[in-house]
Amino acid sequence: MRKKILAGNWKMNKSIAETKDYFEVFFAGTKTIQDQINHKFEMIFAVPFPYLSTAQAAVQGRGVVAAQNVHFEKSGAYTGEVSCPMLRDIGISCTLVGHSERRQYFGDSDEVVSRKVKATLDHGILPIACLGEKKEERVGGQTFQVLQTQLDAILAPVEPSQNIILAYEPVWAIGTGLTATDEQAQEAHAFIRRRLRETKGEAFAEKTRILYGGSVNGKNVAGLISQPDIDGGLVGGASLNPEEFAVMANIVAGAK
Ligand code: PGA
Repeated sequence: MRKKILAGNWKMNKSIAETKDYFEVFFAGTKTIQDQINHKFEMIFAVPFPYLSTAQAAVQGRGVVAAQNVHFEKSGAYTGEVSCPMLRDIGISCTLVGHSERRQYFGDSDEVVSRKVKATLDHGILPIACLGEKKEERVGGQTFQVLQTQLDAILAPVEPSQNIILAYEPVWAIGTGLTATDEQAQEAHAFIRRRLRETKGEAFAEKTRILYGGSVNGKNVAGLISQPDIDGGLVGGASLNPEEFAVMANIVAGAK
């Protein structure tokens, strides 16, 4: 059984004071399920770099605090970037990689994403690697071709014995209020899992969690995570509200 994951991606939002308040409210709303976090299901909070330590101090092991991006080099003349050893240095061992906003605005090509996945694994950091088609690609019937190209780049440096998390995030559903239907999402997840099986074998395909992202909220999360190949959610907008995110955590904790 793959343990379900609820991951929040704050993107470029909040302050130190808001980060502290957030976790007070979130953990107040999840009191009855806190002993199930890490055991029955997992919580991940991907927060901006400056708030990683604040978030860790507040979370205290009741979930994982993750970065939203990382550079593939260890150190050097890369102004404005943060490396895997730096994340490890502050006790961070999980990061998003290849989010569509990184791909769209910051030039994270498939090759860059592949190098970032390799760097994370080389440094014992768990990557949450994102992939997903744009609206015109779905309309043009290219969804599976696009997913396969992105997925193969993500998987290229991965050994079947290693662990990664994948997030299927159709770009047309991110921040738009348009969610893929349960069936559309399941179809894409099943395709991804088949490809995992073809390229890395049965055990890797069975253990790898594939999250769905794109306008997930308290109303649609139950239906999405009830699909056989959807192992949780990567949530942007709705994760910013700690009350709503706590409601979602309670739903994920109760899921089979
Ligand atoms: P959204 O963002 O939930 O606001 O659509 C999801 C994401 O970008 O990870």
